[in-house]
Amino acid sequence: MKNEASVIVRPARNVRGNVSLPGDKSISHRYAMLAGIAEGPSRIENYSTGADCASTLACMRSLGVHWEKKENGVIEVQGCGPSLTAPAAALDCGNSGSTMRMLSGIVAGQKFSSEMVGDESLSRRPMARVITPLSAMGAQIESQAGRPPLQITGAALKAIDYSMPVASAQVKSCLLFAGLFADGETRIEEPLRTRDHGEVALRAFGAKLDRKNNGQGNELRIRGGQRLRGIEARIPGDLSSAAFFLCAAALFPGSQLAVPGLLMNPTRARLLDVLMQIGLRISVTQLDEIHGELVGSLQVGGAGLKGATIAGADSAALIDEIPVLAALAPYTDQGIEVRDAKELRVKESDRIAAVATNLRLMGAQVEEREDGLKIPGHQALHGAELDSFGDHRIAMAFAVAALRASGETLIRGAESAAISYPAFFQTLEELTEH
Ligand code: S3P
Repeated sequence: MKNEASVIVRPARNVRGNVSLPGDKSISHRYAMLAGIAEGPSRIENYSTGADCASTLACMRSLGVHWEKKENGVIEVQGCGPSLTAPAAALDCGNSGSTMRMLSGIVAGQKFSSEMVGDESLSRRPMARVITPLSAMGAQIESQAGRPPLQITGAALKAIDYSMPVASAQVKSCLLFAGLFADGETRIEEPLRTRDHGEVALRAFGAKLDRKNNGQGNELRIRGGQRLRGIEARIPGDLSSAAFFLCAAALFPGSQLAVPGLLMNPTRARLLDVLMQIGLRISVTQLDEIHGELVGSLQVGGAGLKGATIAGADSAALIDEIPVLAALAPYTDQGIEVRDAKELRVKESDRIAAVATNLRLMGAQVEEREDGLKIPGHQALHGAELDSFGDHRIAMAFAVAALRASGETLIRGAESAAISYPAFFQTLEELTEH
C-alpha cells in the first residue's frame, strides 16, 4: 500500500470494554459474489469495512453488477443472474487473494475473457491451485508462471472430480462457484476440513449441495445450472479480527471484554478453544443462527497464560490467527509451538519469517522452521521498531505483542491494517488502559 504510516503502541495495564466487530471478511466476499450472480436484490448488513472486501465489490461492479452502499454498513446489490458483463478493464483484486481465487471460479464460467490483477504482494502469491482445476473444467487461463496477473477465457465448463492437494477454503469456494456453471455434478475433496462459508452461503442463496465426511477429509458435490436468489442477511462480526482483542485481553489477568454478535461458525471457532486452553476465561451467551452461520456474544476475562501446540488440522483451522497467537507466546508459561503451517509462508507476507523477525527485534528467542515456529515462554520483551511487511495481520499482531513489552513500539506500515480492519488501532486504543 502507498502512504506508509507508522503507529506507536504504548504498554498497557488492562484491556476492558465492549467491542462490536465489522462483518466477517470471508463471508462478506462470498455474499458479494453470490448476490451478484443471484436473481433479485440482496440486502447485506454489517458488510466488512476492510479494503479487501471493497476490492470484491469493485470487481463485481466492473462485471456489471449494480450495488449501493447505504448507512450503517448496509450494501444493497441488484443481482444479474449467472451471466455477467465483460469488464472494460482489468479486474483489480488489490491485496485480496480471496477475491482473485474465488472470483476466478465465476469468471471462468462466463462467455468473455477477463484479466485479474493484484498489488505487489498478491502478484507473488500462488494461483496454480485454482488454475489447474479450472483448466480441467475447460477454462483457458494464462498466468506468470502460476502467479498473477491471470488472463481467464471463460467457457462452458464441464464438471470435474477433484481432490485438492492443498487445504484451502478459497480454492474450495472457487470450485464450488465454478461448479454452478458446469455441466453435470462437480465433486471436490479437501484433505482437511477448512472453513465452510462457501457451502453455507451457497445454501443461503438457495443452492443445493451435498457433503460427506470421509475420515479427516471432506467431500462436496454440487450440480451445475442451479439458479441463486437474493437474500437479506446480517454478517456476524469477524472472528479473525476479534482475535486481536481476545489475545490482547489474554495478556492481562484483570482484562474484561464483551464481544456481541460475533461469528461462531465451528470451522472458525477453534481459536476460542485454544485461548481457553491457554487460560482466557470465555463464556458464550445468546447463540443464534443467521442463514446457517452461528453468531454469539462473548464475555471474556483475563487469567494466567499457559502454553499451546498448534499442529495438524488445527494449523489449517487457525491459519489467520497464528500470527497473533505467536505474538502471545513469549508471555506464556510454556511457550507456543506451531507446526504444519507452511501455508503461512505464502500469505500476504511470509508470516513465519515476519513473526520471527519482529519477535527477535523485541528481544525474544525464536526458533524458525520451514513449517512453523517454536517460541519459548517466560520471555520479557522490549519495545522496538517493527515492520508490518505490508501485511495487515502482522501489523495488528505486533500491536498486541507491544502491549506487554517494556517501552514503546513503533510499527511501520501500520496502514495495512485497513485491508481487513480500518478502525483497528483506534479501537485498540479505546479498549486499553495504560
Ligand atoms: C480464507 C481462507 C484462508 C484465509 C484467508 C481467507 C477464505 O485462505 O487465510 O484469509 O475466506 O476462504 P486459504 O483458503 O488460502 O487457506
